[in-house]
Amino acid sequence: EKCVVAVDGPSGSGKSTVSRRLAAAIDGVYLDTGAMYRAVTWAVLQAGADLSDPEAIAKIALETELSIGTDPSAPHFAANGVPVDGPIRGPEVTAAVSAVAAVPAVRRQLVALQRAIIAGQPRIVVEGRDIASVVAPDADLKVYLTASAAARAARRSAEDATDVAATEASLVRRDKLDSSRAADPLRQASDALEVDTTGLGIDEVVAYLLKLLDS
Ligand code: CDP
Repeated sequence: EKCVVAVDGPSGSGKSTVSRRLAAAIDGVYLDTGAMYRAVTWAVLQAGADLSDPEAIAKIALETELSIGTDPSAPHFAANGVPVDGPIRGPEVTAAVSAVAAVPAVRRQLVALQRAIIAGQPRIVVEGRDIASVVAPDADLKVYLTASAAARAARRSAEDATDVAATEASLVRRDKLDSSRAADPLRQASDALEVDTTGLGIDEVVAYLLKLLDS
């Protein structure tokens, strides 16, 4: 039967690793909605658009052809035919993505795309900021992963070899922008289960979620 899992939370909460592992474990696909916002941001920067001009951003977003990989072991993305897995994790995109994701027309476009992908899949784990609240409120399981800012920064800087203090400052800045924007801000859906991953390993979190799905 159909199974949709929504995994929301701030950066560095373990969303991506947990979601990919969970998707593989249920023999389903994985949708990284953050990568979609990042890929559009890459195209916006590529086009040299003014980040303070929502109309210009929306126009480029509409013109961008996204290729969205959903294989949990290799979720590759391309924008306008260009592979963007590397650049969408770079500092330029990371610094600009919250501004692009705050544009309502961009969100409408990407949410519609996300819903279409979810509708076409029997089993899917969807990772993001607004999945339980906006994209898939009917999901079978909704989890909100959290962790202390220090733990999140430590994980992220271990991943990309950046300075922990700078990483923490960048995470905290993005959390603030994401939770204060007018359109679909980052927040925990009232019916989402909060899992604090500060002291938990990935295996423990995945095992816990699998148990919840089973029961
Ligand atoms: O890599 P990290 O976990 O920090 O973030 P991400 O999941 O790649 O998302 C990057 C950015 O996209 C977030 O900071 C949000 O601004 C935006 N985003 C969003 O607005 N809604 C989503 N469903 C997913 C991401």
